[in-house]
Amino acid sequence: MNCNYFGKCGSCTLHDKTYEMQLDYKYEREKNRFDNLLPKDLSIDIIKSETEQFRYRAEFRIWKTFKDNETKESPLLSYAMNDTEKNTLEIDQCSIVSNDISSLMPILIKSLQEKEILSQKLFSCEFLNSTTGDMLVTLIYHKKLEEKWKVEASLLEKELNISIIGRSRKQKEILSKDFIEEKLSISEQSYTFQYKEGGFTQPNTQVNVQMIEWVLNHTKGKGNLCELYCGGGNFTIPLSKKFDQVLATEISKTSIKSAKLNCELNNISNIEFIRMSSEEFVEALNEVRDFRRLKDVNLQSYNFKNSAKQDEFTTIFVDPPRAGLDDTTRNLTKDFHQILYISCNPETLYRDLEQLTKTHTIQHFALFDQFAYTNHIECGAVLSKRV
Ligand SMILES: C[S@@+](CC[C@H](N)C(=O)[O-])C[C@H]1O[C@@H](n2cnc3c(N)ncnc32)[C@H](O)[C@@H]1O
Repeated sequence: MNCNYFGKCGSCTLHDKTYEMQLDYKYEREKNRFDNLLPKDLSIDIIKSETEQFRYRAEFRIWKTFKDNETKESPLLSYAMNDTEKNTLEIDQCSIVSNDISSLMPILIKSLQEKEILSQKLFSCEFLNSTTGDMLVTLIYHKKLEEKWKVEASLLEKELNISIIGRSRKQKEILSKDFIEEKLSISEQSYTFQYKEGGFTQPNTQVNVQMIEWVLNHTKGKGNLCELYCGGGNFTIPLSKKFDQVLATEISKTSIKSAKLNCELNNISNIEFIRMSSEEFVEALNEVRDFRRLKDVNLQSYNFKNSAKQDEFTTIFVDPPRAGLDDTTRNLTKDFHQILYISCNPETLYRDLEQLTKTHTIQHFALFDQFAYTNHIECGAVLSKRV
């Protein structure tokens, strides 16, 4: 890794290894972990990351060095991370962020430095970038953002050809827009996505595309699809082409809004998105509780609970947060013929698969190196119900 801070910065924790070595290490670790659950003849697919400039979202603290500690005037600004000992490490570049973020970082800090109204009480900076060059920067402050701030920040937007959002306690100032537009080629089809600030996005875009393609390639498309934790429709939209009807749920209002918009942008009409936690969805499907949000949705028409019928084939896709599936969601999942599981935490995935493999067999298993140079790894499993 060609980075001035590799080995010092606490972000890349596997800094004593080359890219291939850290991937081998994670592969061996996960192979041992899942060994007793995987069929003996099943090989694990490995999807590699780019070795540098692979992160399309990043956040840094803003550090200030004062020439005169008493007057606290005209501080020198820099980006900062924690070092491996959790002390502040000032940085002027980062080799894992995208090319665009990398190029913008020095220009932005210099511009912020020159305008007191933009730099005063600024403590954090977040970048959200698309592969098509769209860039959203969120500046986070310990002060109320007044009109003067908006005027200067709007000028900076134009000067740098970026979008800026200002955030402070109970305040969010959107100057031009609060999203970026992304265009992805997935299995040779072109898709457009809008990613909204505050909604979940996969950080490593190249690996994300390969994850979606892996799921598409290993999914038996038949009948209807139920998806939980759908975010902004990252998997939902490409997967919808393989199914008759799709019902997708997610807890975040922001993400559900993006998901609906992403459907329109891609002319997809067979998905129904509902804002609902997975726990609530289980209650709704099991008819334990009525939900006003579902008054116009005919849940039973999807036939997810009729899996005993010979001619119905049911599929569920889950991509939960690090905690994995709660008990009721895991139980619901077991009812489906085909389970597609994407996980960012192998520990909770193992716990869940220990239960799911009592009724289902793992047909395909993959490691996606989304978070290169860290201990984290994303996993994918496709399971089918034993007859
Ligand atoms: C790992 S992200 C996956 C999102 C999406 N599949 C993607 O690829 O962008 C997990 C998502 O689960 C949502 N979430 C978290 N807890 C949830 C819950 N209890 N019920 C439903 N969704 C939840 C989060 O808002 C987030 O969008």
